[in-house]
Amino acid sequence: MVADRNIEAAQFVVDEITKAGGTAKAIACDVLIESDITAAITATTSAWGKLDILHNNVGLSIEAGDAQITSIDADAFDHIMRLNLRAMVLAAKHALPIMRKQRYGVILNISSIAATETYPWVGYKASKAAILALTEQQAIQNAEYGIRAVAIQPGMIDTVMAVDARAKAWGQTREEVAKNRASKVPMGRQGTAQDVANAALFLVSDEASFISGISLRVDGASGCRVG
Ligand SMILES: NC(=O)c1ccc[n+]([C@@H]2O[C@H](COP(=O)([O-])OP(=O)(O)OC[C@H]3O[C@@H](n4cnc5c(N)ncnc54)[C@H](O)[C@@H]3O)[C@@H](O)[C@H]2O)c1
Repeated sequence: MVADRNIEAAQFVVDEITKAGGTAKAIACDVLIESDITAAITATTSAWGKLDILHNNVGLSIEAGDAQITSIDADAFDHIMRLNLRAMVLAAKHALPIMRKQRYGVILNISSIAATETYPWVGYKASKAAILALTEQQAIQNAEYGIRAVAIQPGMIDTVMAVDARAKAWGQTREEVAKNRASKVPMGRQGTAQDVANAALFLVSDEASFISGISLRVDGASGCRVG
């Protein structure tokens, strides 16, 4: 089940899955609205009779008004915390009872290397760091039910949120922003959404069945840099 506020974005992913021989459905879901989250979960269990994996992916920064701590607007901070953190809490709140009953499930929370590296804006930093603590709590409180919780910390990934939003905010071209981001990565390139998806596939698979409560960096070695 691909859930996104933008149904066209969800349908795009469904079409990719279908082309690759898989089965998927799209559902419109605004993660700021708790009833949308429960509706997406109910639609999933109605369609497939179970809920194996919860992949919490939504996260925003500058396009939601993030800023340095001395200039952050209180409403913008609240909005970022609701979007990046509260939504993941609510999704797990409603997924866990089903997973506990199944005695199986994996929760994958998308954090960011912003959680552990030097990062300028307070809302994104605080919410992405909190996701690491949330993941550990989910892991320890649900291990006895056969449920795992894991996180990924993507680095510089070439997506709309990261590149186009900065180009718009800074009045630069997409190419300028992309080149600048790539130059900051030890591997000399930005990652792709597929790089993150490959890590996600491993972490939610049965091959990772003894891995829980951890965060995996997918960042071209960016997180190794100190100073
Ligand atoms: N791109 C990067 O460089 C990077 C780096 C570190 C972490 N991340 C994290 O990866 C995750 C995905 O980021 P991305 O770069 O692919 O972003 P993106 O903006 O390209 O995609 C995010 C998707 O979330 C959807 N969305 C936005 N608000 C929503 C809402 N209220 N309810 C439901 N859906 C909503 C959008 O429609 C969009 O399809 C985020 O958590 C982000 O913080 C990204």
